[in-house]
Amino acid sequence: MERRNFVKYTAAAGASLMLHPFSAFATGSGEKIRLALAGTGVRGVGFWGKDLIKNFSNCEFTGLMDINPGRLAYAREYMNVSCPVFTNIDEMLKTVKADYIIVTTVDAAHDEIIVKALMAGFNVITEKPMTTDEDKCRKILAAEKASGKKVTVAFNYRHSVHAMQLKELLAADRVGKITSVDFNWYLNVHHGADYFRRWHGKIAKGGSLWVHKATHHFDLLNWWLNSEPVEVTAYGSLEHYGKNNAFRGTKCRGCEHKEKCKFYWDITGNKHNVNMYVNNEHHDGYLRDGCVWSNDIDIYDKMSAQIIYANGVQVNYSLTTYSPYEGWQIAFNGLKGRVETWEDIPYLQKTPEDQAKRHAIEMSNADDAIPGEVREIIAMDNFSKNFEVYTTPKIRGGHGGGDIRMQRRMFIDKTDNPHHIMAGTREGAMSILIGIAARKSIQLKRPVKISELTDLVPMANRF
Ligand SMILES: NC(=O)c1ccc[n+]([C@@H]2O[C@H](COP(=O)([O-])OP(=O)(O)OC[C@H]3O[C@@H](n4cnc5c(N)ncnc54)[C@H](O)[C@@H]3O)[C@@H](O)[C@H]2O)c1
Repeated sequence: MERRNFVKYTAAAGASLMLHPFSAFATGSGEKIRLALAGTGVRGVGFWGKDLIKNFSNCEFTGLMDINPGRLAYAREYMNVSCPVFTNIDEMLKTVKADYIIVTTVDAAHDEIIVKALMAGFNVITEKPMTTDEDKCRKILAAEKASGKKVTVAFNYRHSVHAMQLKELLAADRVGKITSVDFNWYLNVHHGADYFRRWHGKIAKGGSLWVHKATHHFDLLNWWLNSEPVEVTAYGSLEHYGKNNAFRGTKCRGCEHKEKCKFYWDITGNKHNVNMYVNNEHHDGYLRDGCVWSNDIDIYDKMSAQIIYANGVQVNYSLTTYSPYEGWQIAFNGLKGRVETWEDIPYLQKTPEDQAKRHAIEMSNADDAIPGEVREIIAMDNFSKNFEVYTTPKIRGGHGGGDIRMQRRMFIDKTDNPHHIMAGTREGAMSILIGIAARKSIQLKRPVKISELTDLVPMANRF
């Protein structure tokens, strides 16, 4: 067995930011980049708010907007900013001066804000998923064209050190032309269950996990394969959460079933959650600790799809939401061999994760490599009994280091765009359209073509 480091990209362009990117980003001079944020929930005030202010001294906030006035007031205090706040998007767009409107609302509201911001003359950075259905998607594409402004879609997973190394290997044709892919993603009973506690459990708010969550995975596939999807056949059911239980309540706080419910979650144990959600639920009825057994949940909790790409690649994809551990594995079959990798499969790594804390660590902005641990990518050639192991440092926080690297490319070095890593509306659309096609395929019980959904014509080679 050969074991060697594959550091082509990371050593050449990113060695200095591999382990200590934060200090490198603090710039004190020059004109500030002005940001206005719509959606002051946990992602907005954290990653796009407080963390951004800490890491990028060349950025400043000129406005905050949310429909919940209580959450908005807390956001201003938490982010320690003095900019004006708005409960109406039109008011904010009329009033603020900003280089970017950042969109971090619930998924189903992204389109309205993106379209209005573009038409008011702003560039936009939106959280994933770009939007939740094909009609909204078409409206965003049309508004971008009509306005001449630009939308950047924040696909942070692309920017992780591990994802980039895999991209390097595939772009270098390590195992020849890729013909098929097996991709499985597992959400554990802590983080996976969390999607069923709040708005993500309703198709109308998050487009189902086919869109809300799998947009990340489909975008990675599109980018790694440098191709676009043509057709999707999918299956899915809801057979663990939602209606599938003998008892249910409204929310965990005060629930009569809390002693026997394995999914009981005490939101009051976290001050930030109380300040953000509990203290403001009287404004809009948003329950952050809603019951995972609610009869109103209408998304799937087990999903699988076959995706055909314009370059002929066939993908088998699955997403599970009640796994004992959280992680993923992928294998690319090429004409000359096979490349495979994984993250966080407990029996394949040195130190087992604390499954209850894993998601919070991933969402943190820590960017430290875990000493003595690596991510591994295995390449094996046909007719050979040997295999090569390519390694990168294992970065636990900030989505594998992707969060901070993506923002660095947005706000510090806009010319650093290796392998077209920065994503726009076409990438945003192509990833959600796979999920939207999967939803339709389940409903219609037939394969659904991507060309049925918008005017975009899938490209065999994106670049
Ligand atoms: N890329 C990632 O890794 C990542 C991680 C977490 C969340 N996200 C994305 O960030 C976004 C926010 O997620 P979150 O976890 O912070 O959710 P959240 O529920 O904490 O916050 C959403 C906020 O949107 C507000 N809102 C709802 N409708 C609105 C509207 N019409 N106008 C303005 N505000 C509105 C709500 O009041 C709430 O404050 C989602 O799109 C989610 O997919 C991305």
